[in-house]
Amino acid sequence: MNSTKITFSLCILTIISLAVFSCKKKKTNEALYEDATSGSLSFYKSKDTIWDPKGGSPHGNFKLKFNQTAFNALGADGKLPTGQTFPDGSVIVKEVYSGGSLVLYAIMKKDPKSKFASNKWVWGEYEPNGKVKFGVDKEGKGCVSCHTGGTNRDLTQSFDLH
Ligand code: HEC
Repeated sequence: MNSTKITFSLCILTIISLAVFSCKKKKTNEALYEDATSGSLSFYKSKDTIWDPKGGSPHGNFKLKFNQTAFNALGADGKLPTGQTFPDGSVIVKEVYSGGSLVLYAIMKKDPKSKFASNKWVWGEYEPNGKVKFGVDKEGKGCVSCHTGGTNRDLTQSFDLH
């Protein structure tokens, strides 16, 4: 192969891998949004309540929900016991409310094998219509530094506050 051909092949390869990557990113965002809007989530302490933000939370008023995998890891008091971790596939959804209306989903999904995972969680934020506010490809930048603080409950914050 002459150098022109090699350059050309490299270009094609780059384009293909970029396309595959952005497609994967899109799918992961869509999947996370679908997880958050799934009808089968359970409420924190089984209460459909809007909680006031505490602990310097940037999220505002919220409802807190878990998928079955995450819910099964919670103790009798509804909290993840200190020092325990959530199993892979756990989804925690924070519905953020403003003036009584849902304005945002903030989501953590335990998926250590994902290329987007940071500290074993995939992090995302979506508007109610699915518009990406904070994409998985940001790898939790900004989220993780805050969420590693406090008691050791697998990067979650709410159990100490409510
Ligand atoms: C300034 C610190 C801070 C940053 C930045 C932050 N969070 Fe949080 N987050 C909190 C606190 C504090 C709580 C608990 C608030 C409460 O319960 O009143 C929380 C709660 C949550 C919860 C509910 C589960 C839990 O941890 O209890 C999710 C989901 C969540 N955050 C997602 C995110 C995502 C996604 C990002 C990044 C886009 C992010 N957070 C950025 C502080 C932060």
